[in-house]
Amino acid sequence: MHFTINGRSYDLDPDIRTSLLDLLREHLDLTGSKKGCDHGQCGACTVLVNGRRINSCLTLAVMHQDDDITTIEGIGSAEALHPVQAAFIRHDGYQCGYCTPGQIVSAVGMLDEVRKGWPSHVTADPGSVRLDDAEISERMSGNICRCSAYPGIVDAIRDAAG
Ligand code: FES
Repeated sequence: MHFTINGRSYDLDPDIRTSLLDLLREHLDLTGSKKGCDHGQCGACTVLVNGRRINSCLTLAVMHQDDDITTIEGIGSAEALHPVQAAFIRHDGYQCGYCTPGQIVSAVGMLDEVRKGWPSHVTADPGSVRLDDAEISERMSGNICRCSAYPGIVDAIRDAAG
């Protein structure tokens, strides 16, 4: 089976019951995506599939052959952080850090959704994205932070959006 992850091609033969999260973590050593609940409730496992946010614990790897998958390892780099990553650092958008990869992947995907005008009632603006704090919280509600670092997370996303 062929997978495209962070722009790299992989030919793998996972068990058909393997979740996308387990494929990433256990077959490819891409451990940035975290397993929090393994039930679609925490968002720690968030990845982008063809640009859309999904909980990788809830989907089977075999369903994503030839999809374009992006994990936290494919966002920014140590030398050149993604603007969302840099904003999380500036605003202390974390405490223990366990949920942070999922929060950042989700924020990157969410801002892209808004720029593309999805859902359609949001005005698309290719430059900056205007979101109030309540809308940021609503759009990020699939990502839980047990340390409650939400004020810093919202500040970081508002900063990165502008
Ligand atoms: Fe997937 Fe919690 S580990 S949503």
